[in-house]
Amino acid sequence: MRLWRGIIEEYREFIPLGAGAPTVTLLEGGTPLVPAPALARRLGVRADIRLKLEGANPTGSFKDRGMTAAITKAVMDGARVVICASTGNTSASAAAYAARAGLRCVVVIPDGAIAMGKLAQAIAHGAEVVPISGNFDQALAIVREMADAGIATLVNSVNPWRIEGQKTAAFEIVDQLTSGGHGAPGTERSAGITPDWLAIPVGNAGNITAYWKGFSEYAAAGRIGALPRMAGFEAAGAAPIVLGRPVEHPETIATAIRIGNPASWASARAAADDSGGFIDSVTDEEILDAYRLLAQTEGVFAEPASCACVAGLVKMARDGRLKDGQCAVAVLTGNGLKDPSTAIQQAPRVRGAINADYESVSSEVLTYAGR
Ligand code: F0G
Repeated sequence: MRLWRGIIEEYREFIPLGAGAPTVTLLEGGTPLVPAPALARRLGVRADIRLKLEGANPTGSFKDRGMTAAITKAVMDGARVVICASTGNTSASAAAYAARAGLRCVVVIPDGAIAMGKLAQAIAHGAEVVPISGNFDQALAIVREMADAGIATLVNSVNPWRIEGQKTAAFEIVDQLTSGGHGAPGTERSAGITPDWLAIPVGNAGNITAYWKGFSEYAAAGRIGALPRMAGFEAAGAAPIVLGRPVEHPETIATAIRIGNPASWASARAAADDSGGFIDSVTDEEILDAYRLLAQTEGVFAEPASCACVAGLVKMARDGRLKDGQCAVAVLTGNGLKDPSTAIQQAPRVRGAINADYESVSSEVLTYAGR
């Protein structure tokens, strides 16, 4: 058995950190690419749908891919303090990697608008948590200014090392599809297999930028002969790219992507356009439907923002963009455990306690089992 070494070691030839740079790693990446046949059936298409489970990363989201690179570089450059604005996952990841590297970490968050699991992580890892009475876009503007003033090293995705790390997820998808598995996905040309579609949630737009860079670099290196079409999905209440203008007061249940003025707007637009794809939006209701569908038909618990891309696939199947015979990969960016409150609020009922005796419990179970 060969052990996974983390994304920098696994893909070092594509990450220009210099040979032998000591890495700050939690052995992130190498996440499962899980077939989703039940989802495909529910969508009514004979498509090969795969789920990239980025919630299986060490801190429960895709951010770890970018953070291992950004924190490694920060250490190389002699940084003492790192800073980020966050809707939650970046702060959890930055806090963990900073702790591992012995750096101080400051996270600036929109007060009351980040999921409880993410806040718990930032606190547990010893970060300095600074809530502001404002949204993510305001937080990002403030931390960028502080980084420009030399107060701390910025580890948001405007830091190019974040993108360098995150692009490795595209490499993994190709490598996983190519090294076998189920059915005959995608278009096989030259060496590697490319999915037809990459469906991904869009918030600050760094990740769609990173995936497109990754696929493009694999194509340039001759590892694949075809590129996927990028299908990005914003939440309808926070859909600046779809609307073509910033949204001053973004609102969505998917707090991770509650962003009104994405920093990587232009490169996200380019990724969608250059790939022959698109950026669309999905409503909170569609996101929650997808959230339940995924958890209850595939056994995969992903946080609401992640489910925006599954809601997107539902929409693509409905309007005929996703066709029979195609392969689509949905990027499930964060673990469902990040946001326990949403799960519990979605429960049809939360039962009160019943008597602690065999009769009471067995009668409940028999009713449930329909006997
Ligand atoms: N999904 C999850 C679970 C996220 O946490 C984020 C972004 C995205 C999707 C969107 O990715 O910003 O690269 O377009 N979260 C950031 C944060 C903003 O602060 O944790 P993006």
